[in-house]
Amino acid sequence: MGQKGMVFWHYGLSGSGKSTLVLEMEKRLHHEGIHSVVLDGDNLRSSLNQDLGFSDDDRRENIRRVSELAKILAENGIIVLVSLISPLQEFRSSAKAIIGEESFHEIYIQASFAACKERDVKGLYAKAESGKVKSFTGKESSFEEPESAHLIINTEAESKETSVNKLYSYIRNSISI
Ligand code: ADX
Repeated sequence: MGQKGMVFWHYGLSGSGKSTLVLEMEKRLHHEGIHSVVLDGDNLRSSLNQDLGFSDDDRRENIRRVSELAKILAENGIIVLVSLISPLQEFRSSAKAIIGEESFHEIYIQASFAACKERDVKGLYAKAESGKVKSFTGKESSFEEPESAHLIINTEAESKETSVNKLYSYIRNSISI
């Protein structure tokens, strides 16, 4: 394909902007003729991972499966854009161990719980508040701030345009084509 496969692992709270940014990255990469694939938690949870819930064990398994899939794709020259909450450092470390450090880019999409709750694009924060959604990330289920992110995109402090441009220039510079 003339390109080296790599995994860009975007993580952060639900509603932090991961999916929006990743879809924009895919669009820009395709525009340049670069082959990329999006692996998004919401989509995979209705297909490959439909048997999994939101306990720590199920999230661990979710991340393990997506890591193995991302690894196969990257080994075949694809730029893989992962979008998963990946709430614990342990999960991010195991993704890196599976994929291999040299192909793994850890990107934190930062926005506070309060900001995500305010946006509440999918209405999940309201459901978590009223107890209709359990084990919600940032509420009953913890989210650990990053220890080793290669890049932090703060969607609360920056405009969408700034976030998109910053992320794209990081990804584009990391791809050796
Ligand atoms: S992860 O923790 O295992 O990485 P993943 O990214 O796959 O999570 O799925 C998160 C998505 O599932 C959220 O964007 C949201 O739409 C939905 N969701 C449903 N229930 C929960 C919950 N309890 N906590 C977090 N997200 C949830």
